[in-house]
Amino acid sequence: MFKRPRRNRKSSVIRKMVQENRVHLEDLIFPLFVIEGDNQRNEVSSMPGIYRYSPDLLKDEIDECMNLGIKSFAIFPSLPESKKDKMATEATNAEGLYLQTIRDIKESFEDACIITDIAMDPYSSDGHDGIVQDGKILNDETLEVLGEMAVAQAEAGADIVAPSDMMDGRVEFIREALDDANFEDVSIMAYTAKYASAFYGPFRDALDSAPKFGDKKTYQMNPANRREALIEAELDESEGADFLMVKPALPYLDVIRTLKQDFDLPIAAYNVSGEYAMIKAAAQKGWLDGLDTMQETLLSIKRAGADVILTYFAKEFAELRNG
Ligand code: PBG
Repeated sequence: MFKRPRRNRKSSVIRKMVQENRVHLEDLIFPLFVIEGDNQRNEVSSMPGIYRYSPDLLKDEIDECMNLGIKSFAIFPSLPESKKDKMATEATNAEGLYLQTIRDIKESFEDACIITDIAMDPYSSDGHDGIVQDGKILNDETLEVLGEMAVAQAEAGADIVAPSDMMDGRVEFIREALDDANFEDVSIMAYTAKYASAFYGPFRDALDSAPKFGDKKTYQMNPANRREALIEAELDESEGADFLMVKPALPYLDVIRTLKQDFDLPIAAYNVSGEYAMIKAAAQKGWLDGLDTMQETLLSIKRAGADVILTYFAKEFAELRNG
């Protein structure tokens, strides 16, 4: 035998020397949930170890993460039902919870990269990402709202806005709205291939944002489709996106690979709430080793081709790295 692949596996030093992919702390974005109030911290029951924080405690959490080497955060608001309406008006309230919190974080942490979410669902009494009329989700009317959200978030200091709504034409609409308001430096991380997935369940628990009727299948993608992701990616790229995202990550590693091969923009993958919950639940039962499974999972997403990973494991991963 001249060829013995095991020779490159014989010691830890050699294994690491020939390792093809690595997860760096710089690759990770930590999603965080903010709630109203002071000194509030409550755990999302379907996401052990993940909390909704009031703005004061959210800042402490960001401070801890920054010290561990996590510098990028995707922030989502969890609002009481009383703040929601059909037009998601709270989404552009500069004095409201979300925009105030973003402003405050940017003032306190100059070096943090803050990614804001553009979609109506956290503020919508219908629990949908767009405007609902007669049981339909309106596309073009929703764009107006999304454009206003983008500008309001940029005014609050967002470094990157991330449209997660899956309306057609939203990247171009948002890019133009931002440029018109002189925010040409604010980036767009487009949720390009966002599938209508059952893995979002725990996130909707966290935000109490499940659709009040129907599902999101008329705007989010069919899990059966891979080539359709190329159509979405071509649109987002030509409309001015700075990042293309695939979401969820694990059940769509092939889609991550496809976009990585065909596009030169950075590829982000969202390791979503349900992917986190499954590992946590199995680990709590002693059925899987939580830390090993987490590391293998993040590595698989990198190997598939993701440059950036949004993951609820970010802090835990950083703690592990910091020993
Ligand atoms: C909605 C939105 C969702 C997530 C991020 N933004 C859920 C949905 O589309 O219903 C899910 C993230 C996760 O599951 O971790 N705009």
